[in-house]
Amino acid sequence: MDFNTKVIHGGQTHDPSTGAIMTPIYQTSTFAQTSPGVDKGYEYARTANPTRTALENALASIENGTNGLAFASGVAAIDAVVKLLNPGDEIISTNDLYGGTFRLFTKIFQKYGIKFYFIGMTNTSQIEKYINKNTKMIWVETPTNPMLSIIDIKKISKLKNGKNILLVVDNTFATPYLQKPLDLGADIVMHSATKYLGGHSDLVAGALIVKDRSLAKELYFIQNSTGAICGPMDSFLALRGIKTLHLRMQRHCENGRGIAIFLVSHPKVDKVYWPGLQDHPNHDIAIKQMNDFGGMLSFTIKGNKYKDAILVLENLKIFTLAESLGGVESLSGHPASMSHGSIPKKEREKVGVIDSLIRLSVGVESEKDLINDLKQALEFV
Ligand SMILES: Cc1ncc(COP(=O)(O)O)c(C=O)c1O
Repeated sequence: MDFNTKVIHGGQTHDPSTGAIMTPIYQTSTFAQTSPGVDKGYEYARTANPTRTALENALASIENGTNGLAFASGVAAIDAVVKLLNPGDEIISTNDLYGGTFRLFTKIFQKYGIKFYFIGMTNTSQIEKYINKNTKMIWVETPTNPMLSIIDIKKISKLKNGKNILLVVDNTFATPYLQKPLDLGADIVMHSATKYLGGHSDLVAGALIVKDRSLAKELYFIQNSTGAICGPMDSFLALRGIKTLHLRMQRHCENGRGIAIFLVSHPKVDKVYWPGLQDHPNHDIAIKQMNDFGGMLSFTIKGNKYKDAILVLENLKIFTLAESLGGVESLSGHPASMSHGSIPKKEREKVGVIDSLIRLSVGVESEKDLINDLKQALEFV
């Protein structure tokens, strides 16, 4: 099946008890047994629930994996992945990482004896220097947040070939519409399904997809043992969101392009970070590994004044100032005071998060209205 068919039908069957086209919300904690251990495939809803199973099958289908697992949040999915490791094991990760992932790694797992390296990964040769006998995982996010850097997944997968190292890719920003990490050599794909997969800013959920059944078994064991599962209502919403992923992503990309082109030529805008721009430092990798360039972009204002970024954000009318991304509605954010607010100024500036940087999650509204909104807000600078 093509991707556009998979998002609707991949891994789905009509509900066996009623023929319902959409898998119902099985709001139940347990399932009747006719004799001890004799059931209809479900026994207790932490272990499995039919609505979650439908979502997990859809996830596996759209990412070209064998198995999908749905969690209570993106960070719950990340938590399960790190629990594959043991004290003394090492993870090499990007330095331009989602703040919540960084917090989970450094504030929770470091104290259990797992060691982390946070390094720039756009130059893959850097990674080799950190690989040793304890390296068990390479953690990649691409495009990165908020600088929209692109990391070459295929190149990294070749680097770890023949070694006992798992390559994990956080595919939240790109979604399988734009890139399929398992096809590029990754072992595990992770999502904050809260974002583009759900797509409507109405749920918090996480996902893992793998292409190896024994790895899936280990992760199912961790998921069932630690219990951070996606509930039936959120599973239903995520499944419904996935059915329009291709339509939404197409429009996100079109609007992203229109806005990037508008911002590049605006006299008050300094830099625009969008991987579709020819002068983006990793544009060549983006062309190779992505089908289009997405609706996430960041830009800075000439003069780099903190107050100018705030003025623009306060005066946007269609873009809403809020955490999160990937919904149908356009959102704006100020990384220096929001996602990266707890990182010292000097440190955040090293990765490009300067005072005037604004991040946009471009929604699926009219491109003209979004551009006019930015135009009027920039007049306040
Ligand atoms: C790239 C990325 N990964 C992981 C997460 C964590 O996901 P959640 O908020 O669903 O726990 C986020 C959340 O913003 C994210 O942007």
